[in-house]
Amino acid sequence: MRLLVTGGCGFIGSNFIYHILDSYPDDVVVNLDKLTYAGNLANMERAQAEHGGTRYHFARGDIANFEFVSYLIKQYAIDAVVNFAAESHVDRSIADCSPFLQTNVLGAQSLLEASRRAGVGRFVQVSTDEVYGTLGPEGKFTEETPLAPNSPYSASKAAADLFVRAYVETYGYPALITRCSNNYGPYQFPEKLIPLMYLRASVDKPLPVYGDGKNVRDWIYVADHCLGVDLALRRGRPGAIYNFGGNAEMPNIKVVETMLSILDKPKNLISFVTDRPGHDRRYAMDYSLAAKELGFAPRYDFTRGIRETVAWYQANADWLRGVQDGSYLEFMEKWYGGRL
Ligand code: NAD
Ligand code: TYD
Repeated sequence: MRLLVTGGCGFIGSNFIYHILDSYPDDVVVNLDKLTYAGNLANMERAQAEHGGTRYHFARGDIANFEFVSYLIKQYAIDAVVNFAAESHVDRSIADCSPFLQTNVLGAQSLLEASRRAGVGRFVQVSTDEVYGTLGPEGKFTEETPLAPNSPYSASKAAADLFVRAYVETYGYPALITRCSNNYGPYQFPEKLIPLMYLRASVDKPLPVYGDGKNVRDWIYVADHCLGVDLALRRGRPGAIYNFGGNAEMPNIKVVETMLSILDKPKNLISFVTDRPGHDRRYAMDYSLAAKELGFAPRYDFTRGIRETVAWYQANADWLRGVQDGSYLEFMEKWYGGRL
């Protein structure tokens, strides 16, 4: 396959590109990334060194740039597009949601249109469980659960999903959607819960846990998400939606305590802070459709995944230092300043 992967310098996109390059010796990947604060060329150093100019090509650009996307599709004879590019952090969407509309809605539609016009035969829109809103103590999200996004981030992702649906119904375009629960693993930017808690605990700084710490997420190791997207890409039904989850529902406080125990740090580092506005209480994914149609099953349990993740951050201190630039520190100060 000749793939256009967008957002491949971010967390999940970079793991996905390595999965493809390492699993399919005949595949070629073009990585289109705008290099926002979350995009990091260092993530792709090995791909560039081993396959640069042959099986791996990097193009800096915006998914909303219709002409550039159309050029890349033609130039590299692309036969599948996988869209990871997005503004991805809920807290940033609360602080300012305009970049979320620009990339997650307008950018996704533009990419879809360029792919349709060029006749690209596969298109995977990488979406999230957050489009379903929040659950009570029981039950799980299925693909039939109505969309009910609660944050500006999830509203923008739901809007993109609706455009994909419209393209399937209106033009018969063979796009499909994957929706996944919370990822963790190598290369995750330290604004999300797990790498942020690692970063702060490792230097004995207070760990900001929102509200009562009992919000539940269904954690999936990033390699399992990448496997799911790959299966959807190769075996998925055009027009389908597939949920992926990690079978690892856990309150945030338990995630943080587990990390403290791995790092051998005291629990009194935990600091309960003002809750996130509109904070979804619980996510849990029913992925039985993906199991049945794609043969998907997560391979990592949380105990193994979190140990490997912590070990990766410990072994990659330079990477972690490198991403904490001025804009990172500015956002963190603005967001957490009054809380901690
Ligand atoms: P990330 O923030 O780490 O990476 C996003 C990447 O997209 C960055 O490299 C950034 O430079 C790039 N990008 C942003 N705007 C762009 C644009 N206009 N054009 C081209 N590139 C652009 O995000 P992530 O956590 O890797 O998430 C990837 C995708 O997976 C997103 O679509 C997200 O909604 C979805 N998702 C994430 C999770 C999760 O737990 N992180 C769970 C489910 C779904
Ligand atoms: P996050 O990693 O931002 O992912 P999402 O909001 O997409 O689920 O947050 C995961 C959970 O951790 C969520 O319930 C919010 C909570 N959280 C904290 O308690 N403190 C923090 O500093 C952050 C970033 C998140």
